[in-house]
Amino acid sequence: MSLRPERKRAAPVVTEEMVARWRADFPILATEVRGRPLVYLDSAASAQKPRAVIAAMVTAMERHYANVHRGIHWLSERATEAYEGARARVARFINAPAAEEVVFTRNSTEALNLVAHSFTALMAPGEAVVISEMEHHSNLVPWQMQRDARGIELRIARVNETGEIDLDDLEAKLADGKVKLVAITHMSNVLGTCTPAARIAALAHAAGAAVLFDGSQAIVHRPVDVQAIGADFYAFTGHKLYGPSGIGVLWARREWLERMPPFLGGGEMIATVSFERATWAPPPYKFEAGTPPIVEAVGLAAAIDYLEGIGYEAILAHEAALVDHALRRLSAIPGLTLWGRAQERGGVVSFTLEGVHPHDLSTLLDRAGIAVRAGNHCAEPLMQKLGVPGTTRASFGLYTTHEEIETLAEALERVREFFA
Ligand code: ALA
Repeated sequence: MSLRPERKRAAPVVTEEMVARWRADFPILATEVRGRPLVYLDSAASAQKPRAVIAAMVTAMERHYANVHRGIHWLSERATEAYEGARARVARFINAPAAEEVVFTRNSTEALNLVAHSFTALMAPGEAVVISEMEHHSNLVPWQMQRDARGIELRIARVNETGEIDLDDLEAKLADGKVKLVAITHMSNVLGTCTPAARIAALAHAAGAAVLFDGSQAIVHRPVDVQAIGADFYAFTGHKLYGPSGIGVLWARREWLERMPPFLGGGEMIATVSFERATWAPPPYKFEAGTPPIVEAVGLAAAIDYLEGIGYEAILAHEAALVDHALRRLSAIPGLTLWGRAQERGGVVSFTLEGVHPHDLSTLLDRAGIAVRAGNHCAEPLMQKLGVPGTTRASFGLYTTHEEIETLAEALERVREFFA
């Protein structure tokens, strides 16, 4: 046994040179907007793509493209190896117990719809699903649709003043034992809040419910271990993770993939078909009807390689410094309100500026070459709760610089002076 006191590992220092090297991997960042350098602060909507992802997809199309699983020919075998290799890469990335538990979808929205459709098929009328007040529409509307179709109940757990899940309220909503699934974001796309996934999973399981996390935002900013957090389902999308659009991931425990009925019918997802009936292929194929996103899977695997090559430790340290900088700088601007004060947060900062509509503000920022998102961010009920028509949101990626945050703050100050 060592007698030395345990030392906390210091967060890695991310230098300007390191960020400059990362930026050089993203060709689009050299773009000029109306004669000014692009300031891309909209990565939470969709992240830019490094050369490694673009090259992997081009190579897949130039060298080993064919349909997968179907052809008994050399090219199809190569394409199938690449596609299944991507599945195994995703499984390692999130520490899934088996690659067969990884289902490729079109995006997070489709993954969430899949669970909403197929999990609620196992529920009886009167049983309930709990979500939270800060869900994206994609983790709200599919449940409303199933509530109306199947007579299940939809409960909404409260979010408190700091923008964190009210765990007492969640526990109270689980108390009657009717809840079969808790479906909660792992990081809010509006407030930046990272939710305490392991605690939420423990509460859900203690009440006999399964738990799903919408990881669309979280997985970009922190490492995810689906076993460590105790998830039953985890959904995310490729395009926010520096990978291509058109591909998403649903990871689910094998037990659920076996019990749930398919979501879409067609080729690939069957074992046998007659005119009378069909039987299903084993998971994950049971949930992958039709030709899957083959090239996109290769691109997603390349994005994961790229991200892990940089390392989450460095990404976390850089983004934490960016968020601190942005909160400090923007909170000093008179008339500017920041939304969300969670302790644990990722690289998203939402704000409103007194007297300026969020859409007008984002148009004015665009004039300065700054790309942000404005509006309800697909979270209209959360906007109603906050009592605002929308917000303006700056969101950061690993390529965001402190200089860009200064550019944003200076542009906001100019807008404020103009409207004052
Ligand atoms: N869900 C994405 C966002 O928050 C599109 O911007």
